Amino acid sequence: MASCFCTTISNAKLVVEFFILLLLLGSCTLSFAGNLNQDFDITWGDGRAKLLDNGKLLTLSLDKASGSGIQSKHEYLFGKIDFQLKLVPGNSAGTVTAYYLSSQGPMHDEIDFEFLGNLSGDPYLVHTNVYTQGKGDREQQFYLWFDPTADFHTYSILWNPQTIIFYVDGTPIRVFKNLESRGIPFPKNQAMRVYSSLWNADDWATRGGLVKTDWSQAPFTVSLRNFRANACVWKSTKSSCSANNSSSTKPWLSEELDAASASRLKWVQENYMVYNYCADAKRYPQGLPPECTVNNTTNKN
Ligand SMILES: *[C@@H]1O[C@H](CO)[C@@H](O)[C@H](O)[C@H]1NC(C)=O
Ligand SMILES: *[C@@H]1O[C@H](CO)[C@@H](O)[C@H](O)[C@H]1NC(C)=O
Ligand SMILES: *[C@@H]1O[C@H](CO)[C@@H](O)[C@H](O)[C@H]1NC(C)=O
Ligand SMILES: *[C@@H]1O[C@H](CO)[C@@H](O)[C@H](O)[C@H]1NC(C)=O
Ligand SMILES: *[C@@H]1O[C@H](CO)[C@@H](O)[C@H](O)[C@H]1NC(C)=O
Repeated sequence: MASCFCTTISNAKLVVEFFILLLLLGSCTLSFAGNLNQDFDITWGDGRAKLLDNGKLLTLSLDKASGSGIQSKHEYLFGKIDFQLKLVPGNSAGTVTAYYLSSQGPMHDEIDFEFLGNLSGDPYLVHTNVYTQGKGDREQQFYLWFDPTADFHTYSILWNPQTIIFYVDGTPIRVFKNLESRGIPFPKNQAMRVYSSLWNADDWATRGGLVKTDWSQAPFTVSLRNFRANACVWKSTKSSCSANNSSSTKPWLSEELDAASASRLKWVQENYMVYNYCADAKRYPQGLPPECTVNNTTNKN
């Protein structure tokens, strides 16, 4: 692209046309991303969750009386879910923005992104967890390599029968592999909805609960847009994927970490990982959870 700029005057018109074309294509992709009205219901918050700009933008807000939240209309059994979030700016200490997949009931499965706010200038913490059959306690936490309040960034969950991968702007930050062959449960039988919410968690979120929410800054607001679910929709006990699964039409259904992504993952884990339950031997005097010790390739995942 950069070489386009080193052009002669006679090429300038062509370049301008090219950029106009790019802009048009860009807007097509945007409208393709659809209307959040069609994908989500506002489930709580008494007017604090708002759909704006013809359903292209969603804001969730939190004040002393309440937070707010949404859930997807569809349930999914496997998919690649993308959502763009712009987190609470300024002093967001004590607030938590959650974006996750979850099934229902005491034996539920869940795949979590939680964004723990902080004082102005102090880093947001991305808290992740995976629940299988009602059991979680698989926390990994990360800082980000950018300011997540300055602009929208894409947070994705890839969930297929082989693996779960958490991505930030296409960079994998965490992998939870299917290790059922080693007796470790993997979420694959319960359909999940997509949820997002903003709520107060100043009893634990920021520096373990030391920093409280400053209500004089309320309302706190997070913005979401460009929801994309390349996913198998689960409806009346049937999956929309049960017939037609070719890897050309549904690459995400068989996607796994390739070598390039694995080295990106390593970069994140070496430079931005703050907490890893698999490395917390003190927490597990009787020994680490089984998925942490299966082998050395997987125990960082
Ligand atoms: C907030 O900033 C402090 C100080 O840099 C840091 O220790 C902490 O991990 C940050 N995030 C949260 C959620 O506490
Ligand atoms: C397609 O994928 C879904 C989800 O993994 C699976 O339940 C279904 O059996 C697959 N169908 C075929 C024909 O492979
Ligand atoms: C499978 O999906 C592709 C692309 O969505 C479509 O063109 C094709 O007709 C489908 N095949 C069947 C058997 O549904
Ligand atoms: C570790 O796990 C990976 C993926 O599950 C597998 O490919 C590899 O062979 C395993 N290594 C050992 C030493 O068991
Ligand atoms: C696995 O990791 C442990 C601790 O990090 C190390 O001591 C051991 O040599 C590793 N084993 C293999 C096979 O890499």
